[in-house]
Amino acid sequence: MKLVTVFHRFLRSSFTKCTNRTFTKIGILTSMMFSLYAFIMYIPDFQKEPRPMVHPFSKTLKFLRSNGAVHPDDLGVMEGMSHEEKLKAMLSLREGINQIFNECLISSKYDHCNSPQPNNDQPILTLFTTWIYDEEKFFINNNTLYNWRKLSGVNLVVFTNDAKVKDYSEKAGWLVLPIGTTVAGDAPVLKQMFHTVQQQFKTDFYGYSNGDLLFEEGLYKTLKKIACQMNETIHTKPLLIVGKRTNINAEILDSGVVTSGQKMQKHAVTFGSLFNADALDFFITNYVFPWQDFLPLAIGRRGYDNWVVSIARYWNYTVIDVTDSVLALHQTLLERGNFEGLHKPFNNYNLDMIASQDISIRYGLWGQTHCAEWQTWFDMCGRVALTQRKNIKSDCFMKKTFFQKLFNFREPL
Ligand SMILES: *[C@@H]1O[C@H](CO)[C@@H](O)[C@H](O)[C@H]1NC(C)=O
Ligand SMILES: *[C@@H]1O[C@H](CO)[C@@H](O)[C@H](O)[C@H]1NC(C)=O
Ligand SMILES: *[C@@H]1O[C@H](CO)[C@@H](O)[C@H](O)[C@H]1NC(C)=O
Repeated sequence: MKLVTVFHRFLRSSFTKCTNRTFTKIGILTSMMFSLYAFIMYIPDFQKEPRPMVHPFSKTLKFLRSNGAVHPDDLGVMEGMSHEEKLKAMLSLREGINQIFNECLISSKYDHCNSPQPNNDQPILTLFTTWIYDEEKFFINNNTLYNWRKLSGVNLVVFTNDAKVKDYSEKAGWLVLPIGTTVAGDAPVLKQMFHTVQQQFKTDFYGYSNGDLLFEEGLYKTLKKIACQMNETIHTKPLLIVGKRTNINAEILDSGVVTSGQKMQKHAVTFGSLFNADALDFFITNYVFPWQDFLPLAIGRRGYDNWVVSIARYWNYTVIDVTDSVLALHQTLLERGNFEGLHKPFNNYNLDMIASQDISIRYGLWGQTHCAEWQTWFDMCGRVALTQRKNIKSDCFMKKTFFQKLFNFREPL
């Protein structure tokens, strides 16, 4: 109420010092100021100085990190609750934590999908990429060559017709295969490469990833979990696995980081940031995924990623978003930025092919990672969990309007 007091004083001083006329002027002026003040107070955004928000969950985390040794009152965890409510909440929290203990210690023995797996069994994934030799960017692709070699249970393939790429990849112990058809100015066709590796290798999963991503053991753990929990599906129904990438400045990664999962995790949390839900840089499918039914889209040109996800969803395939359990660290070359992919030759090649399709869905929206029906994450015991999403945003189901269909609308990706 300070403002009111100040205003009172101001009013009184005006009254004593001024003539009637100036008093009227000041009166009008102040009432205008008051209206402005009321107006500003009415707009929520102006109401308060932006303050760092303390989310209730972060207070609870603080309490848990103290191992429950600090009284909740002293951390302000249960502000606004009555004493009775606090006692009840503490009891229920205690019971919950005990249950988690039991779950982690006891039931993992009985859940065969979560018992520790030996790492020396058959490859589970055939992972392929393709990259172009570019002197400035080579250290990034070289990081990938050695990072993927550290992964458990993978066959590694690079598609290239370039002698330098072939040479470096073979030195790093990869299988090199030639690119068959190229389109849109030297771009390989996604479905063709899938077809080729499926003929060469017998694994549960086949994956394409951009040649500038780094992975760690989350990938292997997640695939093992999916293969186990969906053991029927992976041999009989089409399945697609996607995730968001985490961008990080490539300059801060040395070879010690790119070959250590733990260091990658730390760097990702400290320096990385999750990228958009509609920019997908890796796709993993099973053997029965019908790539032959997909458009012959070019890799690395706009739109192919969203199209694959949206069509898989549209045809009711099993789609899994693994963002929360698979770290896909994207090495960004700062001078080129995170939208480097948008400046390639024939960039509308895929968009034009897609626009010629008679399909009712808004594929740019359907193809976002958070639209996937399933998701993987780490549970309280640090095990990969695979669950169905309870809420999927409505834009994941957006259809084209009459006019969008009529004018053969090309999605603004
Ligand atoms: C397949 O998965 C189900 C459910 O997780 C499990 O009960 C069953 O034992 C599994 N079968 C095989 C052959 O692993
Ligand atoms: C590629 O990376 C490996 C592993 O970090 C390193 O030993 C090698 O010298 C690098 N190659 C080149 C040409 O930079
Ligand atoms: C997918 O499932 C939905 C809902 O069950 C159904 O309406 C739709 O016809 C199915 N689509 C295809 C291509 O089978």
